[in-house]
Amino acid sequence: MKIAIASDHGGFALKQQIMEYLTSLGYEYKDFGCYTADSMDYPDIAFPTAQAVASGEFERGILICGTGIGVSICANKVKGIRCALCSDVVSAELTRQHNDSNMLAMGGRIIGVEVAKAIVKTWLGTEFTGGRHQRRIDKISACEG
Ligand code: RB5
Repeated sequence: MKIAIASDHGGFALKQQIMEYLTSLGYEYKDFGCYTADSMDYPDIAFPTAQAVASGEFERGILICGTGIGVSICANKVKGIRCALCSDVVSAELTRQHNDSNMLAMGGRIIGVEVAKAIVKTWLGTEFTGGRHQRRIDKISACEG
């Protein structure tokens, strides 16, 4: 599975740790920035990352900003993206099972690294349940036009 990952300055430190963790789990990823802890605008990394997932170049995407909110708002404006902002493992599991989320957003100023690692491992390892949940996703897709 190819993963696109990005953060702004508010998520930079957590992203560095999550990239190391992805490597330890054997996942392949591409870092879409930012590349320093200098202040920058989260839409500048969130949109290109979401577009890379929407195009099919990457199967999943992970976005991190200070709260996770700004990047999730951006990602969910890209057609085909279902980005879930998670601060706990149960939400990470359920958003894969029920929403077939293809992007995960987290807040680097909200959760600690161990919680973030557990969220990432669960989110990457959980399958979509399908069935009645597919019908609901089809209704979201229909709204996108
Ligand atoms: C940057 O200061 C901060 O606004 C950003 O990381 C994020 O939390 C926005 O939603």
